[in-house]
Amino acid sequence: MSFSHKISDEYFARAANVIPGGIYGHVAPVAGLPRHFPHYIRTAEGCRFEDVDGNQWLDFMCGFGTILHGYLHPEIESAALAQRQLGAVFNQPSPVMVELAESLTQKVNFADWALFAKNGSDLTTWAVRVAREYSGKPYVVKARGAYHGVDAWCDPGLGGKIKEDKSKVLEFTWNDIDELKRVFSSHRNQISSIILTPYHHAAFSPSVMPSETFWADVETECQSNNIILILDDVRVGGRLNDGGSHKYFDFTPDMAVYSKGLGNGYAISACVGKDFLKDASKEVFLTGSCWNDAVAMAAAIKSLEISHSENVAESILAKGDYFVKGMAEKASENELPFILTGPTSMPYPWFEGDENLFRIQKFCEIAAGKGLYFHPHHNWFISNAHGQNDLDEAIELAGEAMRDLVRLESV
Ligand SMILES: Cc1ncc(COP(=O)(O)O)c(C=O)c1O
Repeated sequence: MSFSHKISDEYFARAANVIPGGIYGHVAPVAGLPRHFPHYIRTAEGCRFEDVDGNQWLDFMCGFGTILHGYLHPEIESAALAQRQLGAVFNQPSPVMVELAESLTQKVNFADWALFAKNGSDLTTWAVRVAREYSGKPYVVKARGAYHGVDAWCDPGLGGKIKEDKSKVLEFTWNDIDELKRVFSSHRNQISSIILTPYHHAAFSPSVMPSETFWADVETECQSNNIILILDDVRVGGRLNDGGSHKYFDFTPDMAVYSKGLGNGYAISACVGKDFLKDASKEVFLTGSCWNDAVAMAAAIKSLEISHSENVAESILAKGDYFVKGMAEKASENELPFILTGPTSMPYPWFEGDENLFRIQKFCEIAAGKGLYFHPHHNWFISNAHGQNDLDEAIELAGEAMRDLVRLESV
């Protein structure tokens, strides 16, 4: 079975006239998302959505991670609505900004201050600049293949670049502490910061968890070289621990950036930091047209409150464990070398030996025909709205998709 995408296609044809590429970025059909997914979505609730052609989907992408509690979560929507009735953007911030900063500094154990923008990229770049302002040193270190946003120093794309964009960026291989030490010593007294995700979740390849000693070693090396440790928690955020991923992996960064999941679909990002960086942070100009948007802040306050009161990180990890176990059983019944890598609540799908990604693409295409939204080369997301029935249904349908795949490959 495959769904009709007639209306999606009509919108896409119109879009191609007036929007460069029709759809751009990582959800562009050319760049990332294969043809059998809908181009346009009409509405979503809980863990399901309906596309513009009326097809119903059981979702495992959660708005690429922005949805933590489920689409249209009633309490978050009422908090947003209550604020919307007062207004969203004014000449000055609303008091909800103060309340959100207080909430984050209470909930994130090392945070003495917080400030807000709209996207992850706004604040990963800003945090790197704060570290430079504090230390006066130009270089930033990152893990090879890690994504930190769309700005020129870290954007993985090819267009519009000049070589100077990345001239102050150094790289090492995730988990390779010896290489990190070599990078640190080759640029002694020239490195202001290192920016790292909590585990390595590069696109197009299996996720890699930190080795047992990775984070302790990174902390030691940062301390002995006076390098500021920036945690890019944009994607993972409250998904491993309600207080931030550093608590799950037991280390302490100097600054952390959050975005996806923070406002449960409302556009907001936050950077939190330690007191010693507060003065430097005042010197790095930060603003945006709608960044004072009180609606997104009200949603974020409620979202954080629910994360804590309902132990959401623990809950989605338990759901993830159940899902990954069920998927492993289906893979074994079908004798397929299929694994889900990384944390179980945000698993990345991989077929052993499938370096060209053809097999995972075919599997996700077949699964899409059964109403499962499984992305072939990005980690999936489980939200707290995924119930046992939803997971059972997904596992069953995925098992059927695996059977169909085996059948197709045998002819
Ligand atoms: C780890 C990480 N950092 C930064 C970003 C950039 O965030 P945004 O797309 O909100 O600018 C992303 C987005 O996917 C991300 O996953």
